[in-house]
Formats: sequence, structure tokens, C-alpha cells
Amino acid sequence: MPRHTSRQFDFETIIRRHGTGALKWDRYAGRDIIPAWVADMEFLAPPAVIEQLCARAQHGIFGYTSPYTSVEEAAIEYMTREHGVAVERQWLVWMPGLVPALNTAARAYCEPDEAVITATPIYPPFLSAPRYQGRQLQKVPLRVRDDRYEFDLNAMQSVVTDKTRVFFLCNPHNPTGRVWSREELLQIIAFCKTNSLLLVSDEIHCDLILNPDLEHQSILRLDDWAYENSLTLMAPSKTYNLCGLACSFVVIPDARLRRPFRIATRGLFNEIGCLGYTGCEAAYRHGEAWRRELIEVLRENRDLLISFFAQNMPRIRILPIEATYLAWLDVRELGLDQAKQYFEDAGVGLNDGAQFGTPGYLRLNFGCPRSLLEQILARMDAAYRALPAG
Ligand SMILES: Cc1ncc(COP(=O)(O)O)c(C=O)c1O
Repeated sequence: MPRHTSRQFDFETIIRRHGTGALKWDRYAGRDIIPAWVADMEFLAPPAVIEQLCARAQHGIFGYTSPYTSVEEAAIEYMTREHGVAVERQWLVWMPGLVPALNTAARAYCEPDEAVITATPIYPPFLSAPRYQGRQLQKVPLRVRDDRYEFDLNAMQSVVTDKTRVFFLCNPHNPTGRVWSREELLQIIAFCKTNSLLLVSDEIHCDLILNPDLEHQSILRLDDWAYENSLTLMAPSKTYNLCGLACSFVVIPDARLRRPFRIATRGLFNEIGCLGYTGCEAAYRHGEAWRRELIEVLRENRDLLISFFAQNMPRIRILPIEATYLAWLDVRELGLDQAKQYFEDAGVGLNDGAQFGTPGYLRLNFGCPRSLLEQILARMDAAYRALPAG
């Protein structure tokens, strides 16, 4: 397959991941199923990241590693440069993942009879974290208006109680791909203020905005209130395809919030692996040209996917995808009891919407070379055609 002539980086070669312990592929080991489920991509990381990792590996000693000045500076500079937020070093809490950060937040800020509130559909650990930590969960469905998911503030207000402590926000949103607007986010902040809630804003997908006219709005840029009442969850892992390096960070400007968070992590996590820091620093310092091309590729994949479904599988509904490499498919009209299984039998591995709090949906990961996406779509199309007419 020839390289896209005008591109500097290779987003076209399909890399075999068999034998690397890849979670995404191993689920279907020995079966002819293309995995399009868990959120990592089928692209090589930026060359600059690979080079720095090789150089670090050559050093040969892999001892316990604390966050060091150059990685902290890389994260701070990145926050200012890309998101217009001035961050201080001591605000950063480094974590081996944001799922642990969600769990830590549930435990640190809620008592067992207190609740986290969030809106569904949502990335499954938002739902499991309160449960795993023995805390309560309040779920409110997002609503669809004018072909857009939006928060249902009245419904949220009717669910909240004096035991609700924390709002879990995902911005941009996994799985719907929404980039919440400034106005929408200000409404969320107002909701949190009214109800004295802490805002935990997971912004891991913030560098994967596909629409040129949209911009990520970090919660810290919107209202000074956020400096004393919010946590921002960040990582280079989704954008630069570094999920296996397990390096992320939480921005907690307020010392009174940082303390219980740190206490809640005690004894649970080791230091982040030294290669995680290396990858993070290299991505933030040297990854931008690669990221820009990635966005073009993802945009093309998204456009292909949207038009392919509209033309060939019109009973599967997809609302506009503004960010991420994840498509949220409404398959309710197909009338399948086991939609995930149905497409798996046809050779495509997807996520089941039930895990996101909304049965009747599937999530498709299109972060892959176009030729692989074409195979995924062809297989789904064949399965769709085999369905009884609706
Ligand atoms: C919104 C969101 N938060 C967190 C994560 C996972 O983060 P980590 O691998 O750092 O635990 C994902 C992965 O898909 C995600 O979509």
C-alpha cells in the first residue's frame, strides 16, 4: 500500500500486533475478527517518541523513577501552549492511569453513603469507579436534540441530593464524540456551584478534536471557581497511542483537594515506569507534527465511516462525531438481542453500549489505517445485508 505522498508519517501500514500481548487483538486470538473495540490505535507512535524510548532503554537501568523536572516542564508547557492554562508544578499528581484517578477521586471525596453523579452513555470506568470504591452512583441520560447529545440539566437537578459530592465530566466525550461548548461547560460549572459539587473533568481526548472550527475548552480556562473546585485528568496516551506506557497526570490546583487525593492513593500505586515519563515528555515536546497528520487521517476515516453507514447501513444511526476516534452506533432499529455478538460473528469486534449505560448501541474504534477500516466496514455491511429487512 503506497504511502500518502504528501504525508510525513506512516498512517497506512497495518502493523501486526500478535504476540505483543495486545489486549485489543488477544481477545480474538486465533479467530478471524478485526478488533475495533478498546481505545488504542493501530498506528506507530511518533518517531520522535520511539527514538527517545530507545535511547532511554539503551541507558540500561530501569530503577524507581520520580517525576523529574524536564517531564514536569514538558507537561506544564504543553498545558499553556495547547490549552492556555498556566499550571504550577506542585499541582500535578502523576498517576499510572486515569482509571485509577477516577477511582481515587470517588474514594477521596465521597463517604460510602455519598454519590458521584454522571451522564450516560459514558466511558465505563465512570460507572464502575464509585461502585468499586463502595460509593454511590447517580446516572442521568444525556438527551439528543437537533442531532446532538446534550446534558439534561433539569433531569440532573432532579436527581442530585445533599449526598451528591462529585460530578464526573468527560470532555471531549467518550463515547459520543461531542466537544462540549463553552456555554455548555459554563452550565455544568453553574450546576456544580449550585449543588456544591466537585468537578472531575477527564480531558484525555482533548487533543483529538476533528472539526477545525471547534476548540477544546479546559475547565480551568472557564471560571476561577475551577481552581478551588476541580480536578483535570490528562494524559498523552490516547493522542500519541502510548496507552501501554501507563503515564498520566491529574491537575489539582487546590492544596486542600490535593491532600485527600494523595492520601487515597497511598499504598496502591507504584511509581510510574521510567519509560512512561520518557514517552510523555517526547510526545509533548516533539509530537505536534505527527498529531496534526493524525487528525487529518482520523478526519478522513470519520468522513468515510459516516458516509458509508449513511449509504449502506441506514438503519444504523450515527450522530456527528466532533472528536476522538470512536464512533457511537445506534443499532436499536436492527432489533438484535445481541448486536455485539452478531457483528463479532461477522468478523468485527466492537464494544457493547450496555457497558456505557445504554444498551442498543455499539462503539467502533476507527483509529486505524484506512484499508483496515475498509475491511471493518465491508464485514459489517455484509452482516447488515444478511439481516431481515426492517
Ligand atoms: C475518557 C477516558 N478516560 C480515561 C481513559 C483511560 O485512561 P488510562 O489508560 O490512563 O487509565 C480512557 C480510555 O479510553 C478514556 O476514554
